[in-house]
Amino acid sequence: MAIIRTSAVPLTSISTFRMGGTVAEMALVESEQDLQELFASMPADRKWIVIGGGSNVVFPDGDSDILVIRFAPADIRFEKIDEDTTHLIAPAGAVWDSVVAFAVEHGLSGIEALSAIPGSVGATPIQNVGAYGVETSDVFHSLRAFDVTTNEFVSFSKDDCRFGYRDSIFKHEGKKRFVITEVSYALSTDEPNVPQYPGVADYLASQSITRASLSDIRNAIIHIRSTKLPDPREIASVGSFFKNAIVPRIDAEKLKAEYPTLAVFPINESLSKVGAGSLIDTAGLKGKRFGTISVYKNNALVLVNEGGATREELKNVVEMIIGEVQKKFGITLEPEPELLEF
Ligand code: EPU
Repeated sequence: MAIIRTSAVPLTSISTFRMGGTVAEMALVESEQDLQELFASMPADRKWIVIGGGSNVVFPDGDSDILVIRFAPADIRFEKIDEDTTHLIAPAGAVWDSVVAFAVEHGLSGIEALSAIPGSVGATPIQNVGAYGVETSDVFHSLRAFDVTTNEFVSFSKDDCRFGYRDSIFKHEGKKRFVITEVSYALSTDEPNVPQYPGVADYLASQSITRASLSDIRNAIIHIRSTKLPDPREIASVGSFFKNAIVPRIDAEKLKAEYPTLAVFPINESLSKVGAGSLIDTAGLKGKRFGTISVYKNNALVLVNEGGATREELKNVVEMIIGEVQKKFGITLEPEPELLEF
């Protein structure tokens, strides 16, 4: 076990948005013991941050003396609970999509709809990662975290995490206090549920699949994502840049009557979800370029760093988009990634 330290790290190298300045030091830890040692050796006033795949954060510009902590990937293990349920226990540093691939290969259902999402395991409960009708909270069993205030490891149940849409306790009181080290997902040996998304049905039909296996569902999701979301290796983005809007159902219905291209989904008697992508698209901003930032041509929910974007430039474009959407539809969009300030 070892802590690998690197100094003067450019944040562009650890962020899929390829933005940010330079940090004084990065520590790569391999184990919980490494993490505990690292905190024990750190002055109390040392600023620190844990980063996973860097696929949902926007770093600030300039130089910072903050310590960036990252986890090296480690082994995944299983714990069979009963005939139907197996817990898949993954270290924070594991690459999320390799965990999904592993579950699918071993015939375990529950996370196949979360295929091809960039990032690491430790981030999945923080923002309650979700896609195609499944959220991390649906399959979450428990997690282990290091409490920096007591220097002890603690366990969190699903209730403890207080999950919401792209939300959890780790974005609020738990922030800067708990470092997630391991997550346990409760998976099933039952037949998988096929996500009720038109794109999934279309893909399965195109492959003449009538009874979809786990890997058929995984392939369908990989296919759909590749058409809607840029590959972070080629195009600099953080996936969805805005959260979908939850508004009174009556307002959503009025908007839909006026703007039929809006994606409106009733949630319950009184609330509806309005797709942020469809709001930006209907406002005519899809595919538009504003200096170093553009609205992705295949999905208006995604902003692209065309190269060398600064936080100021991003901020201006984000404010402009929020303003245009607000003016046209009366809905205030909120950014989805974490806009970090050191
Ligand atoms: N839409 C448009 N124009 C656009 C983009 C989308 O009209 O430019 C419409 C679509 O046609 C569709 C609706 O908006 O009717 C919703 O689109 P989609 O199903 O692709 O999902 P989304 O709401 O845009 C959310 C998540 C994604 C996740 C997908 C799939 C958020 C902020 N985003 O996007 O998550 O992959 O659902 O379930 O909730 C991410 O968080 O980074 C992310 C990619």
